[in-house]
Amino acid sequence: MTYDFKDKVAIVTGAASGIGAAVARALAADGAKVLLADLDIRGAETVAAEIRAAGGTASAVETNVADAVEVEAMVETAKRTYGGLHLAVNNAGIGGPAAPTGEYPLDGWHKVIDTNLNSVFYGLRYQIPAIIASGGGAIVNMASILGAVAFANSSAYVTAKHGLIGLTKTAAIEYAKHGVRINAIGPGFIDTPLLSKNLDEATLGYIRGLHRSGGSAPRRKWRRSPRSSSHPARPSSPAATTWWTAATSRSDVPSALRAIRSANTGY
Ligand SMILES: NC(=O)c1ccc[n+]([C@@H]2O[C@H](COP(=O)([O-])OP(=O)(O)OC[C@H]3O[C@@H](n4cnc5c(N)ncnc54)[C@H](O)[C@@H]3O)[C@@H](O)[C@H]2O)c1
Repeated sequence: MTYDFKDKVAIVTGAASGIGAAVARALAADGAKVLLADLDIRGAETVAAEIRAAGGTASAVETNVADAVEVEAMVETAKRTYGGLHLAVNNAGIGGPAAPTGEYPLDGWHKVIDTNLNSVFYGLRYQIPAIIASGGGAIVNMASILGAVAFANSSAYVTAKHGLIGLTKTAAIEYAKHGVRINAIGPGFIDTPLLSKNLDEATLGYIRGLHRSGGSAPRRKWRRSPRSSSHPARPSSPAATTWWTAATSRSDVPSALRAIRSANTGY
């Protein structure tokens, strides 16, 4: 499938690294003008420069998505720089502390809920009016397979991702009639710094053990390519699904959680 994002303006949060960087590159490759928003402005500038070097249109803005004022300013920057807003990918996120719920650090809880859930509300709050004013478009919120199932020692992350899906569904039914398609996608484990920075060796080993390369998991029929067998998957996998979700004009199906069976996790 091809889709022309020419003359479309996109915001991607958390675009300095991992999935967000891959999403920004994919949208820009199909013609979108992309504003890359991240706390890590140097990383976002680097990805934006790579996109421009490849012939695309991109710039970066320093944004803390956990701060509503900064998120509003991010949307204003997109409008001022590129003349409107059509696509937004609310992707920025953190893993948070690893601890059982009865011992979970309070500050860690608030940081994860602010960064992974409140941020998405702030995004929707300011992106929706901007997209309607630009004639319609799409928003993709980055959930996780952990928006649908439990994962021990990650109560804040799991709660934020479950909440994000409810928020997405609600906003989707409110704004489909205004020409704004709002979806969430739910990747499995993806090989990015979020995994390597947050999980201890035992948990990483467990995840790898669920894959064929770990030698402990049965082969699955649905796995078609050799690339899909030796990882947590690469960021290009959820990036492709995000691209497709943003591009698909199924206004009769305004909201969906697209789960990416990126790895043989058993989920
Ligand atoms: N890696 C996985 O296995 C996986 C699986 C499912 C879902 N996800 C989700 O995908 C999204 C991207 O994760 P990733 O794996 O690419 O991680 P990553 O660590 O590679 O990238 C996350 C980016 O978000 C930015 N960020 C963090 N806090 C921010 C804040 N307050 N304001 C602005 N930017 C901030 C970071 O600077 C970083 O550039 C997250 O929402 C994550 O929960 C990841």
